Amino acid sequence: MTTLLDHLNKGISDLRPYEAGRSIDDVIAEYQPERVVKLASNENPLGPSPKAIEALSGTNDDLHLYPDGDAKKLKSLIAAHESLETSNIIIGNGSNEVLELAARAFLNKESSAVMSKHAFAVYKIVTQSSGAKIIEVPTVNWKHSLSEFHKFIDETTRVCFVANPNNPTGTYNSHEEFEFMMNELPKSILVILDLAYCEYVEKDDYVDLNILLSKFPNLLVTKTFSKIQGLASLRIGYGLASKELIGSLNKIRQPFNSNSLAQEAACLAISDKDHITKSIKLNAEQREYVFVKLSDMGMECIPSQGNFISFKGPFDPDELFVSLMKVGVIVRPIGLYDMPEFIRVTIGTKDENEYFLQKIYEILN
Ligand SMILES: Cc1ncc(COP(=O)(O)O)c(C=O)c1O
Repeated sequence: MTTLLDHLNKGISDLRPYEAGRSIDDVIAEYQPERVVKLASNENPLGPSPKAIEALSGTNDDLHLYPDGDAKKLKSLIAAHESLETSNIIIGNGSNEVLELAARAFLNKESSAVMSKHAFAVYKIVTQSSGAKIIEVPTVNWKHSLSEFHKFIDETTRVCFVANPNNPTGTYNSHEEFEFMMNELPKSILVILDLAYCEYVEKDDYVDLNILLSKFPNLLVTKTFSKIQGLASLRIGYGLASKELIGSLNKIRQPFNSNSLAQEAACLAISDKDHITKSIKLNAEQREYVFVKLSDMGMECIPSQGNFISFKGPFDPDELFVSLMKVGVIVRPIGLYDMPEFIRVTIGTKDENEYFLQKIYEILN
């Protein structure tokens, strides 16, 4: 007999849901550690701009009113920040929503999406839930092999996803590599360039999104307020593309997809350049510190341009994950990414990183 769930759209029953990092409350409830340091979800350990926090306390009078569905104020600030027009911007409930809108707009059960192996998990989820086929391109030294992408597309391919830097590998691709890929792909394929961690990159040859957007009308760039801007809980991100593409995505967006508190906080966060500079500096220093210390302990770390490092070593990741939680450190085993030997750790404050390093040392020695 046919059941209700037999009628789920193609792809949904086999979908492996996104596994979020363990929360501080969960870990306290289960293990009662004296202190908890969460280094599991690549958030900014400094939190958001103090100006954004201050603004939130003054915006509660309007909670009964719908937000500005068009997010005009935020879009004008993003436009200035990105040297683009407001018509080139779509606001999402996190950048994940922009990824989902693009998948809904371009993918269905007759089509396919190409992405790198070990790429950010949401690409698979949005592809599979739209019924489309996933085509994976192998990595070289954990890095996206952009010179190969055009060899993996077929006549059904409608979307390519590229995270730069990628989560969880932390690897990045240069402007030249990305432009090569764009030139090799047909202009009828949408390429999504996910720049969730772009601010953390310290490479002169990194992608220049304005050059890319001016050359390629089939490009959608996504960015987020969840990472360096420290507003992960408010769920706000954006997409940048041609006016025509943004217009099409806006047609299927929910009318009030980003709330007024998120919009207001994002407006203040994007204007606080000092906080961003401070966050970049902390991450660069501490990423190097954690990399060296883990390497000294005999771990193999993947060089990262993000605010996290994935590493493997003489441990069972699932066991180490639990042992670390018992002493109050939350990290992320990344078996879901087909990297079963690895753990990913977010770069925290100096004090948080030292706590993590001390605990991992004690557990393994
Ligand atoms: C590569 C990448 N893209 C996008 C996102 C999603 O960010 P948001 O919070 O804006 O939905 C993440 C979150 O971890 C990420 O790692």
